[in-house]
Amino acid sequence: METILKTAEAAARKAGAYIVEALSELRQVDYKGRVDMVTDVDRGSEAIILDCVREAWPEHAILAEETGANQLRSDWRWIIDPIDGTTNFVHGYPFFCISIAVQYRRQTVVAVVYDPVHDEMFTAVRGQGALLNGKVIQVSQTAELSKALLATGFPYELGDRWHRAMDYFKLFYYRTHGVRRDGAAALDLCYVAAGRFDGFWEFDLKPWDVAAGLLLVEEAGGRVSDLKGNPSGLDDGQVLVSNGGLHAQMLEVLSGLPLE
Ligand code: IPD
Repeated sequence: METILKTAEAAARKAGAYIVEALSELRQVDYKGRVDMVTDVDRGSEAIILDCVREAWPEHAILAEETGANQLRSDWRWIIDPIDGTTNFVHGYPFFCISIAVQYRRQTVVAVVYDPVHDEMFTAVRGQGALLNGKVIQVSQTAELSKALLATGFPYELGDRWHRAMDYFKLFYYRTHGVRRDGAAALDLCYVAAGRFDGFWEFDLKPWDVAAGLLLVEEAGGRVSDLKGNPSGLDDGQVLVSNGGLHAQMLEVLSGLPLE
């Protein structure tokens, strides 16, 4: 597992250096949806990571945001987001990251999330705890929702679910110290793992947005579920994470307005 972690870390660092270099340059932006953007730098970052993975682990399966899945059948699968927080990147707002998860038989066992602007490398290996730049991190001890700082994100497409996301925002905003919308789900999850946020929820997320961050939260002692408190699968798209102590209180708030 250590060698896989090393490959993932090295790939994230290499891609991170490339992204930071490109930050001040004009970039080519294409639209996947109304505001869902992809840039030449997302594609370049993904190419760098894929090269590193293919060179070290040519037989492993890969699922990556911009190029999709390779056709290899393997117990091992890499799940890659070359820039999580593309909107932030496009605007030069320094909150984006590279997210790399490695699964064995569909269970995430290695997680790397790298914020290249702040040079923060979040890593986890299942059963071995969570680290930030090599130092152990843990979720917060906040016990009351009224003293919590939370984070969330909103679906790109306007519609019923977008309105529901706004409703949730209002519900939590009113009951806590505040709710941040920082625009990079993978980093939001790491901030829960590091105790900077006490909880996070979002729906309409993709596996590459959350695969690494969810393991980091678990390994930092937090709790992970869907918005109803059931185990959360990567393909469900909805996650609720917390420091554990706040989970029931967050679920109670969400139960007032069920998603479907
Ligand atoms: C997005 C970010 C954002 C979340 C969106 C994601 P992308 O990922 O994680 O915080 O609200 O749902 O799609 O598109 O920047 O990789």
